[in-house]
Amino acid sequence: MIPPHSLPVIASTCGRYDMYGFIHKALRKAQCDIVVRLGQAGTDITPGLLTDLRDLLDLGRLHISHEEAHIHMAAELRMPQASSRLKGQHDTHRDTFLGLEGLIVAFEQAPSSLRQDAARRLYLAFSAFMARDFEHMLEEETAHNDTLWRQFSDAELMNIEGGIIASLAPEKVIRFMRLMVPAISRHERVTLLGGMKVNAPPEAFTAVMELAVYPTLSVEDLRDLEKRLSNVAAAA
Ligand SMILES: [Fe+2]
Repeated sequence: MIPPHSLPVIASTCGRYDMYGFIHKALRKAQCDIVVRLGQAGTDITPGLLTDLRDLLDLGRLHISHEEAHIHMAAELRMPQASSRLKGQHDTHRDTFLGLEGLIVAFEQAPSSLRQDAARRLYLAFSAFMARDFEHMLEEETAHNDTLWRQFSDAELMNIEGGIIASLAPEKVIRFMRLMVPAISRHERVTLLGGMKVNAPPEAFTAVMELAVYPTLSVEDLRDLEKRLSNVAAAA
């Protein structure tokens, strides 16, 4: 049995708005998918898998820059140094992304006699990054959320999150939504996509459905979502 003190304390959200929840579920699922594919590939890592890995590292880089420019910036205006630990972890992530890119290139250029070592190095290094990032995201969703909840109202937090979304090019919105939609629960999908159906221009909502929802959900999940969304009125 695992002693209780080895587990993190996860306090209740008390109904507060958790701006990290959906995007972190997306990143966890995407990382798990990639590490499983790397493990299954062994030395036969395809160019397609390396492209997906590079895309994920790119979104990871983008994600931490959003957190710093919007969440950390707002938090530190009210509480100096509130995000300094997390910023240090982000700097480590940036170094890690460069290191992983180096390992990808090393695999691509390895002669056949060295491919096994290069593939193993990439697999283990990526899993080590995941371990650190999972701890990092846990800290954001517990300790840092607690700080945010003490300093900001839910409306203010939604406004900060809105600033992140407004800063994204449509192509980036689609890339994040493709990770997020299959990673969250059926109930959460209606929160996310229902809000979009009500508030976003109809053509933007249609683009998200066609490019991020239909290609990523199972038939059953899609049927469930369409049923729930049929009760939500579209934006005028
Ligand atoms: Fe972060």
